[in-house]
Amino acid sequence: LSKVELFKNLDNTILEEIAGQFTVQVYLRNNVIFIENEKGDNLYVVRKGSLKIYRTVEDGREIMLDVLFPGCFFGEMALLDNFRRSASVQTREKSELLVMPGKIFATLVRQHPTIAFNIILVMSRRLRLANLQMESLALKDARSRIINAILRISQRQQNQESSSVLRYGINLTHQEIGDFSGTSRETVTRVVQELQEKKLISLKKRRLVVLDQDALENEYKKV
Ligand code: CMP
Repeated sequence: LSKVELFKNLDNTILEEIAGQFTVQVYLRNNVIFIENEKGDNLYVVRKGSLKIYRTVEDGREIMLDVLFPGCFFGEMALLDNFRRSASVQTREKSELLVMPGKIFATLVRQHPTIAFNIILVMSRRLRLANLQMESLALKDARSRIINAILRISQRQQNQESSSVLRYGINLTHQEIGDFSGTSRETVTRVVQELQEKKLISLKKRRLVVLDQDALENEYKKV
């Protein structure tokens, strides 16, 4: 639990107490945990697997807000502000989640300023990412938006997991890159092909590896 960003810098005795409040739930690939506008009951921590946070727009398209890996938490917003779920969450692969009742979570946040501070840190990171997304969607062309999506998602996973990600890459579909960047799957396919030819990324057996992060950042900044 000490590796979970929500519970960093807490004493072991408190961590043990907190651990006792969680139950484990296993979800198969593409299972929906909850959908936007539902009432929020629980807080979730990712133990294994990965999930996507998304909103569905009127024409049925999905806008992907973030991808979560082990150590991440979600579902805190509806518990803290008492509004409904701000987005939907779905597994991308078989995943194991730690689940805590909302009331217990609310009490923990009030009791431990460290937990409240950890939440602020994560929300700051999310706001930074959202700012980048906004800039990207407002100012950049489709190709740059796709590069932005690849960079941000791969960085998210690097932060959460070990360096093995750099070697083995992340499992990212063209559709997901499209949903994160607001472009069509066809455009993603074309740009991914070009980036592979330039040896900036490699995509084999659905594993995407960023080969040259600096060069890719420069491609994004150029436009
Ligand atoms: P909640 O609103 O309860 O349910 C949806 C959850 O998705 C939300 O809590 C956050 O945990 C998470 N979430 C919402 N928006 C974003 C975002 N832009 N980036 C990352 N996570 C988000």
